[in-house]
Amino acid sequence: MIEVKDLTKIYQVGDMEVHALDGVSMKIDDGEMVSIMGPSGSGKSTLMAILGCLDIPTSGRYWIDGDEVEKMNEDEQAFIRAHKIGFVFQQFNLLPRTDALENVMLPMIYDGTSSKERIERATEALEIVGLGERIHHHPNQLSGGQQQRVAIARALVNQPSILLADEPTGNLDSKTGAEIIAIFQKLHRERHQTVVYVTHDAFTARHTERIIHIADGKVQREEMVPHPLVAGASHRSEDAAANDAEEA
Ligand SMILES: Nc1ncnc2c1ncn2[C@@H]1O[C@H](COP(=O)(O)OP(=O)(O)OP(=O)(O)O)[C@@H](O)[C@H]1O
Ligand SMILES: [Mg+2]
Repeated sequence: MIEVKDLTKIYQVGDMEVHALDGVSMKIDDGEMVSIMGPSGSGKSTLMAILGCLDIPTSGRYWIDGDEVEKMNEDEQAFIRAHKIGFVFQQFNLLPRTDALENVMLPMIYDGTSSKERIERATEALEIVGLGERIHHHPNQLSGGQQQRVAIARALVNQPSILLADEPTGNLDSKTGAEIIAIFQKLHRERHQTVVYVTHDAFTARHTERIIHIADGKVQREEMVPHPLVAGASHRSEDAAANDAEEA
């Protein structure tokens, strides 16, 4: 569970203050699937970086599973980053000269996991995202969608309580993007994975149960989605999509 209260982030650029976040409060429960939507420059990436403990707010409070992040020491924050949060970026951020398996093993390298277990867990994570056949491919031997799947496997490998993704489909065509959203939906449905992703596309947002609309660094409104779209099934009726979800 994550909760933030009155988060602000002010960037100083020369004489100018940029209020990237201007008092954001929200709560995301375990097992929820939520999207954050808003126009360019509204503060989405700033918010995600703070939620991912990759950046600190100017003011405001943040709790992960009831623990306040600001009160943690560096080791505790590093532990949170490594084990409680999985982060997926728009540009995949894979190491180019290592294969998919090694990229996914990376988050376990310094935590004392044996190499046998690292290989097992990384292979399993790659199988979950449908890349079991491609574990020795390097990023440049993979399509964009496949590279993003490797990035998702890397984010999942330490079994984080929350998966955060900043425009994970932003660099992909719509069909490939739908495949990525389908993976998030499967993780959510089958593993009760908490998923939060940013998008500025309303259609992509409607694949989650709740949409948090951000504008000018503020939460403008929250919208419940009673019948989230099923990725890849959008051109058919919602009933057909629901049937698929049940059969899958
Ligand atoms: N390092 C920085 N220094 C100064 N200003 C910044 C910095 N990072 C972001 N900003 C500003 O903060 C505001 C919010 O930026 P942010 O990247 O969070 O927006 P966004 O909603 O993710 O936009 P996009 O949809 O284009 O990715 C913008 O006005 C941006 O110019
Ligand atoms: Mg952004």
